Parts: sequence; structure tokens; C-alpha cells
Amino acid sequence: MNLVQPEDFSIEQINEILSLSQDIMSNPSKYSKVCEGKLLATLFFEPSTRTRLSFESAMKRLGGNVIGFSEPNSSSVSKGESLKDTIKTVSCYADIIAMRHPLEGSASEACKYTSVPFINAGDGKNQHPTQTLTDLLTIKSLKGDLNNHTIGICGDLENGRTVHSLVKAMSRYSGMKFIFISPKELKMPSYIKEELTSKNHTYIETESLDEVIDKLDILYMTRVQRERFNDLDEYERLKDFYILDLKKLKKAKNDMIIMHPLPRVNEIDEEVDDDERAVYFKQARYGMFVRMALIIKLLELEK
Ligand code: CP
Repeated sequence: MNLVQPEDFSIEQINEILSLSQDIMSNPSKYSKVCEGKLLATLFFEPSTRTRLSFESAMKRLGGNVIGFSEPNSSSVSKGESLKDTIKTVSCYADIIAMRHPLEGSASEACKYTSVPFINAGDGKNQHPTQTLTDLLTIKSLKGDLNNHTIGICGDLENGRTVHSLVKAMSRYSGMKFIFISPKELKMPSYIKEELTSKNHTYIETESLDEVIDKLDILYMTRVQRERFNDLDEYERLKDFYILDLKKLKKAKNDMIIMHPLPRVNEIDEEVDDDERAVYFKQARYGMFVRMALIIKLLELEK
């Protein structure tokens, strides 16, 4: 089984992964040898801190080992090797592959050639399903439930793959209200909004975080994605459109949580980090546990 987008798993399978993550968090020693003798390959054609290192620490904490590259120029891709040949080759060495790639659709393409379980660790501005599992575990652990929340998603909604995957995943739960907060140039793509409508969810679009912040149970901040802009002047104009600080948070609910997939640039002032509603570093830690559960699940090692 592979993971390219959140819908590759049923709700039941996602719940199993989240429950397994919570058991791993409570009883880490129980899982410390589950992956003995297994090898994870991390193929990162794009930069990463959290996704790559949390995958690698996840595998090592399960007793397994890791091979891979974080810099495509150190692989034979720099000599012109195709994605197809790279994946076919790595399948000969590893038991499971996690790949990040700058091109949308590259993860689906890689799945055609892998002979071991394959995980999409981010493909261009398309999808980032393991960030979504991280986000779901964060919401479930800190809010108690995945239903009946008002979630405000703020920033670069056009280019942020994490929020594309998150909205697709959250649209499968009930009682969700979505508020998309972005400059008009960086709105949520139509295909995501059409999917919400087809599932009878409503959403609101606004440019003003200030006007909606008091309604939110979850505020999901994102950075403006410089690497996706062709026009850097446009990036400079939009990059500081939202900067969350303690003054702006005054109107927010006391139990709202502030999430961010990270990396952060300027969109959350560091003074917010000490506010107990700021959970983005906890969220990064949940990412390691959820990836441990995902590896166990895809390698069918639960028993
Ligand atoms: N959230 C996330 O994907 O972070 P990295 O780019 O550091 O992996």
C-alpha cells in the first residue's frame, strides 16, 4: 500500500493510525524493535527539516535503519537518471520509501514503479499527506475530536500543499466550518473548494484575519511560499500580508489552538511562541509519532 494523498486511507484506517500514534507516545519502549532489520529510504529532491528528520528519527526509534539523500545533486539524478529508474533501483534496496519532489504528480508517477510501500513526503504544491496525519493527530490530541470545529486557514492557500491536503482530509468529518483567509492573489484553489461544495460543506473566504479570529477553534497559519513564485517582486509584496502577534490574538478564544506546519518566516511573531495556544512545536513532535505509526502500518507490522 502507498500514501500519495489523504484519501488513500479510509477514515477507519486514519483512526487506526492516530490511535497507534497515541499508543506509541504512551508506550515508546513497546515499539523500539518493531522495525529491526527494515530499511527506510528517504529521497528528498527538495529541502526539508521536519519531514525528513522526523521520518528518519521515526524509523530509528522503531529499531530500523535509514538510507537516502537530502540533496539531489548527490544522487545519479544529477547525471540525468529518470524518476522511474531511481524508484526501481531504490526499491531493490529499501523496504519502504519516502520521497519529496518539486513536481506535482511526481508521487503518483513514482507509485507506478515502486515495488515497496511508497510515501509522498510532499509533491510540489500538490499534496503533503504525512503533514495532514500530523495535523489530524495534533487536533485529535489537543481538541479531543476531529468533528465540529471552525478552522481558519491563513496565508498562501494557493501554493501551500499542506493546507490542500488538510482541507481534503477535514472535509470527511462532520460539522466542520472552513474560513479561508488569504490575499486575493493566493486564494484556495477552485478544485479544493468544489470538493467542499460537493460534500455539502460551506466555506467563507476573506482577506481579514482580524474580522474572523474570534470565531475560530483552530487557526492554521502558513508561510508565503517563495519557492513557488515566478515573480519575486510579487512575493516581496505579499510575504508579510499576515503577521500574527499578541495584539491580534486578544480577540481570539482562550482555547483556540494556533497551528503551523513550519517552517515559519514572519507570519507568526516569536512573541506568540510563549502563548499557551501556540502548539506548532508540539505539532512537529506529533509528526514523528504519526510517521512511526504510518511506517508500522505500511509495513504491516502491527501484529
Ligand atoms: N512541515 C514541513 O513539511 O516542514 P519541512 O519542509 O521542514 O519538512
